[in-house]
Amino acid sequence: MNILKRLICSPFVNNVSKQYIFKPRSYSNKRNINILGIETSCDDTGCAIINSNGKLLSEVCHSQNLMHLRNGGIIPDIAQDLHRTYIEPTVTKTLQEAKLTMEDIGAIAVTLKPGLPLSLAVGMKYAKHLGRRYNKPIIPIHHMQAHALVARMHHDITFPFLVLLISGGHCLLAVVQDVDHFQLLGESMDSAPGEVFDKVARRMKLRNVPEYSQMCGGQAVETAASKATNPHMFKLPLPLSEYRDCNFSLNGLKTSVMFHLFKKEVEHNTVAHELIPEVNDLCAAMLMATTRHLVHRTQRAMEFCKENKLIPEERQQLVVSGGVACNNYIFSALQMLCNETCYNIYRPYPKLCTDNGVMIAWNGLEKWNKGLDIVTDFSSLDIEASSPLGESLIEQVRAAKIATKLMKIKLSI
Ligand code: KG4
Ligand code: ZN
Repeated sequence: MNILKRLICSPFVNNVSKQYIFKPRSYSNKRNINILGIETSCDDTGCAIINSNGKLLSEVCHSQNLMHLRNGGIIPDIAQDLHRTYIEPTVTKTLQEAKLTMEDIGAIAVTLKPGLPLSLAVGMKYAKHLGRRYNKPIIPIHHMQAHALVARMHHDITFPFLVLLISGGHCLLAVVQDVDHFQLLGESMDSAPGEVFDKVARRMKLRNVPEYSQMCGGQAVETAASKATNPHMFKLPLPLSEYRDCNFSLNGLKTSVMFHLFKKEVEHNTVAHELIPEVNDLCAAMLMATTRHLVHRTQRAMEFCKENKLIPEERQQLVVSGGVACNNYIFSALQMLCNETCYNIYRPYPKLCTDNGVMIAWNGLEKWNKGLDIVTDFSSLDIEASSPLGESLIEQVRAAKIATKLMKIKLSI
């Protein structure tokens, strides 16, 4: 399913925010409002309420993870059915936990792009239903922008900042100039890292180990890698080392890992549910190779930002977000890079790195405070399977041809 997820998320559609009807600033001048956030772009039905001080009042998330683990991936029809079943109870519980009713809500923020169309449609329809019934404006949210901005909720991060978004559907490097101004420096040309972790974990049969049976692929790979006894047993190449841009490619790594796995399975004559004895070492090799690739591209992005004065030298900040940002090995390696380059590094709390309703409510508040995209005519609102993060600087990055020698990552697994 992740292929589908990646396809629909490929960012090649024009910015559409202009088609929304912007309400006058009178809306944003109101104080003490509560924002209800709704997220249904993939397989989590998330909902949260944030007040105008940015305080989280309540949060409920219904995850479909276990169902999709059993099915070997996300089946869009099933995801939609589950969103339909859980959207109302999730919103109701969120209001109850905050001790509020819909009358106390000032605006509804909802993810409209990018994502699985069948899943996005459930959130949009429910938000429109609430908006009409209770006469509340809707604030449309871009899922990936929300992943980036939520880091500002608990950390003192000012604009502009560099962001690395790594999840099951995306791999992006961008400069965030403002709430509504994103400059894309690089993106994955094939798979996203979370998608590769999920696929490799499934193929390695990690789910057959009771300890990993309820974990997502990325978490299972990270845990298995931490038990490696010979992490340098398998040698994996550095992807795109000849390409002086900030794009990513993870399919080559995935193929190499699958090849080593197959070879070892034949060598050990493994059957059905059995794992290869070297599974921890192979997980370590894959985690280290993915990390090297992410660090290498981020290092070049930092150099591009410096050359082009996109980020002030006196306040250099890197935000890492998306589900894969939960990975402590990857984050520690990026921390080392930031030490070398005088960047401060931040990531949201793990619960806010993966998909959730809080980031949608937070993005809604950031837009509300600036009077952006506050919509009362819902006829202009629609979902979009794919959508660009913002202005693309990918060609400029490529033209700059910055030679970047990968920093030595002195980190034991
Ligand atoms: O952001 P997210 O919840 O959903 C998408 O928008 O894709 O990210 C989910 C992805 C999954 O592919 C999962 O395997 C990965 O994040 N993930 C991790 C870890 N925890 C979750 N990957 C590596 N290490 C982890 N600890
Ligand atoms: Zn996400």
